[in-house]
Amino acid sequence: MYTFDFLIIGSGAAGLNFALNASKLGSVAIITKEEIFNTSTYYAQGGIVGVMFPPDNFEKHIKDTLEAGSYLNDRVAVEITSRESPDRIKDLIELGVRFDKKETGVYDLAREGGHSESRIFHFKDKTGYEIERVLSNKVLENPNITIFDHHFAIELITQHHIGINVEDEIDNIDCFGAYVLTPQGKVEKFLSKFTVLATGGSGNVYLTTTNPTVATGDGVAMAYRAKAQIMDMEFFQFHPTALFNPKERPAFLITEALRGYGAVLKDINGKEFMHKYDPRKSLAPRDIVARAIDNEMKLSGSEHVYLDCRHINKDELLEHFPTIYAKCLSIGIDMTKEMIPVVPAAHYQVGGVVVDYSARTKINRLYACGEVSRTGLHGANRLGSNSLLEALVFSYRAAKDAEKYFNDYSINKNIPEWNDEGVKLNEELVLITQEVKELNQTMTAYVGIVRSNLRLNRALKRIQMLYEETEELYKKSVVNRQICELRNMILVGYLITTMAISRKESIGLHYNIDHPFKTKPQ
Ligand code: FAD
Ligand code: SIN
Repeated sequence: MYTFDFLIIGSGAAGLNFALNASKLGSVAIITKEEIFNTSTYYAQGGIVGVMFPPDNFEKHIKDTLEAGSYLNDRVAVEITSRESPDRIKDLIELGVRFDKKETGVYDLAREGGHSESRIFHFKDKTGYEIERVLSNKVLENPNITIFDHHFAIELITQHHIGINVEDEIDNIDCFGAYVLTPQGKVEKFLSKFTVLATGGSGNVYLTTTNPTVATGDGVAMAYRAKAQIMDMEFFQFHPTALFNPKERPAFLITEALRGYGAVLKDINGKEFMHKYDPRKSLAPRDIVARAIDNEMKLSGSEHVYLDCRHINKDELLEHFPTIYAKCLSIGIDMTKEMIPVVPAAHYQVGGVVVDYSARTKINRLYACGEVSRTGLHGANRLGSNSLLEALVFSYRAAKDAEKYFNDYSINKNIPEWNDEGVKLNEELVLITQEVKELNQTMTAYVGIVRSNLRLNRALKRIQMLYEETEELYKKSVVNRQICELRNMILVGYLITTMAISRKESIGLHYNIDHPFKTKPQ
């Protein structure tokens, strides 16, 4: 048994930033599935929004965010995020994060699809690496923070585990910590005053994703089982431009900043097409661009479209996008001379665990921040580069909130050991890999960029079958990471599909051909 004041599950921007702020109050444990840096944060390319310099202002950013979200956003969450962006960017700079500057010394702010101003702070095309590098170094040198890498959170601990029927206490559930699988295969109790879900997204429910393999929706699944509220899962963002390289998982992202820099989308015959879909052409919001690409691929029967940056100055391309240049070259594409084949890929989970403006979930003593959470910032679609900012703004707010209640709680040590009576070693690994494949195929074919009532209902039937088979296997098996992730992904697939079925309109990222499209419901 381990006891800490704060238990944080996840070591991306949200988890690390909460840890640094909470370490001023008490002891902190961070558990993380793999190495500390194996996070979506590490892979972020484009950058992070900071509304700091004229002619930009908060109102412009708020308007862009609301417009991208089809006005389904929570206006207060949008205001908070925008107005607190300067402080969170300054925190990063003070900690040592480097952002690119122009020769004149001013920050070189980039612009992405849906942004009316250049407001994206970036470090070349590897901003996430830079943020993760600095935050994780600070965490590693902090004596109040202990990192448990290669530890996997299986289940949140609530009253349910001490024999109280949570159905009777649905509005008064407490979180006491989590059951965690150690690298030695033992399940340990990690008990805490406060628990923070910072587990990131769930792109791995789909066949093609930009997300690292750790993004399997564990946080949403654990929170759902613990009876937290989950919302907006039908809004799954597909990034329009992942590198077309079918054998690679995760799919390598070609940042939107490249389009911000002048790169243009072209069809399989090398002709521009975005003017047919939106006056903003290649810089239209992501949902529009991803659907346009999907349509062009269907019209031509091609497996990808192209991104053309051959007209951009070679030295500038190499200076600003060195990682992308090197990656393309590694598979035989010189982007200064050839077009880059690109395809949409599952990228960002807009919905998640519902939280308030202090990142509190419906469960007492349980916070959720970063991609796992649903703050209301994004509405029906996320504006690029708003998510790293959201992770920092709400993890900071969560730590400030915990400070207020720090002395009100004690650690509940009266928690039973993990119950693995009657289970045996599961040697049927092939069943798990096969079920992951089936889930991926179902979600991609029926609950992807373009949906219909028929497809969604078909998906639901398949997912229900996968659910029953997996639960049966889970109950009989010694717990292991693979089966837990499968179980979590099936649950996330179920939530995406049922929420998509419930939404009787097309809006933002949710496009169902059986329902008319709304762009601006006000
Ligand atoms: P993550 O950074 O994903 O961290 C999640 C952590 O939780 C990981 O450490 C993982 O191991 C851990 N974890 C998960 N489940 C468990 C478990 N059961 N037990 C233990 N540990 C667990 N956003 C932007 O704003 N700007 C960008 O330029 C940008 N570019 C992106 C590029 C790519 C390729 C990708 C994939 C995403 C990008 N995003 C970008 C989105 C953004 O990176 C993420 O939304 C954000 O980093 C999420 O941070 P997080 O802290 O919530 O989660
Ligand atoms: C990108 O660099 O295109 C991704 C930005 C984001 O997901 O916010």
